[in-house]
Amino acid sequence: MAQQQARGAFIVFEGADRAGKSTQCQMLVEHLQAQGVAAELWRFPDRTTPIGKMINSYLTSQSDIDDAAVHLLFSANRWEKREELLRKLHEGTTLVVDRYAYSGVAFTAAKGLPGLDRAWCMAPDAGLPAPDAVFFLCLTVEQAAARGGYGEERYEKDEFQRKVLDQFHAMRGSSWRVVDASQSIDAIQQQLREQAAAVVARCQRGTSPVGKLWE
Ligand code: TMP
Ligand code: MG
Repeated sequence: MAQQQARGAFIVFEGADRAGKSTQCQMLVEHLQAQGVAAELWRFPDRTTPIGKMINSYLTSQSDIDDAAVHLLFSANRWEKREELLRKLHEGTTLVVDRYAYSGVAFTAAKGLPGLDRAWCMAPDAGLPAPDAVFFLCLTVEQAAARGGYGEERYEKDEFQRKVLDQFHAMRGSSWRVVDASQSIDAIQQQLREQAAAVVARCQRGTSPVGKLWE
């Protein structure tokens, strides 16, 4: 029998823009650390790498990149972090990650371009480490708009966000924990802490190896 090894948990946050992911991720990481759990906050796109800088320039409309090509850049940005991500998990560090491949699929598929359907969008991420849990912060476009509107970046428009949400809902699997993001920040955080504690404990028991997308 393969030796069982304790490891960190891989927790992904997904949701449309303005759902509160970044706030909740930050709070969760600080809570875990205060509990003595080694934990780090990661985010995709990781805009610090050379690929991430190209993505940043696209998102801030300093450059235009072909839709298929930029999709592959977002995916490559996850692949270039794969080794470090697995190393951290195996060293026992829990990673709380703000967006992952689900955003990649949802945002490109939402463009509705010929040839770039959901299956095409999923292909480049196949084989990446699969998260142990996906927390989906669920907020309607109207609720998000009531929070004071979107920012200036590409994709931050009502009509497009509605299509992104449709894609997320079409993709969400049974392992997703859907959280009503219209609740207060503290109420949401409380639910996330409970769910995260269970996932962290399961990974510490060492009985669940890191899976692969899209298995
Ligand atoms: P951020 O606001 O979380 O930094 O994400 C930047 C934007 O990039 C956001 O609108 C979602 C989008 N995105 C993709 O289009 N593909 C991806 O693979 C990821 C991770 C994000
Ligand atoms: Mg944003």
